[in-house]
Amino acid sequence: MAHPKHIVILTGAGISAESGIDTFRDAGGLWENHPIEQVATPQAFAADPVLVHRFYNLRRAALKKVEPNAAHLALGRLQDEFDGEVTLITQNVDDLHERGGFRNVIHMHGELNSALCSACGHRWEYREDLSITSICPACQTAGGPRPDIVWFGEMPYAMNSIERAVKACDLFVSIGTSGAVYPAAGFVQLAHAYRAKTLELNLEPSQGSAMFAESRLGPATQLVPDWVAEMLD
Ligand code: APR
Repeated sequence: MAHPKHIVILTGAGISAESGIDTFRDAGGLWENHPIEQVATPQAFAADPVLVHRFYNLRRAALKKVEPNAAHLALGRLQDEFDGEVTLITQNVDDLHERGGFRNVIHMHGELNSALCSACGHRWEYREDLSITSICPACQTAGGPRPDIVWFGEMPYAMNSIERAVKACDLFVSIGTSGAVYPAAGFVQLAHAYRAKTLELNLEPSQGSAMFAESRLGPATQLVPDWVAEMLD
């Protein structure tokens, strides 16, 4: 195709796998040895907030020990050098896109380095441990703060601006996501319906592979820099 003018990129756990962060579905439905429903639902948090806080505290601490890889860095370079618009939507809660140089990342499933008050809805950058006695800086409720993660059954963030971008783009690229979780898994169909070209970069065919005009298979650290080089050519 002619060079696109507006690229929308959707990333998932696969782009951070080579940095050493586990994906969700490659370990038999377990996330760091926990069934997802034990740590990623509002019901789980209500039933055992100590366990859920401990789980995300460990994930947040682990984030400090990993580095962005060549795929994150290539997307940062794309944003800097591409002669057009690039929107990056991630399902990841890590900060490796930001550390890879991308600004204004849309974190549709929340962020590990952010807290959310369940009493007043305040969200703020927070990089330390949370506990059941943490106090919300806005409303002072003790025990109000929770991980700012969109759990199963909750509404992803920024859906209006995501929908606008996906409808407006002329190239939609999905990187390192299994296509198992909606609404993100449906963005490719929306992009296609609005006449964007669609491209998947993934280690293996995802559940939604057939919906993409083109699929390239391999590790993100190889596929993404190669694709970015094409876009900047
Ligand atoms: N390079 C490219 N792709 C990879 C790599 C790699 N090095 N390693 C793994 N993958 C691919 C896998 O083949 C798989 O298709 O990344 C995908 C990861 O899929 P999931 O583990 O399902 O992660 P994701 O799609 O991000 O999950 C979506 O589900 O649990 C929820 O909210 C959570 O955001 C998450 C959402």
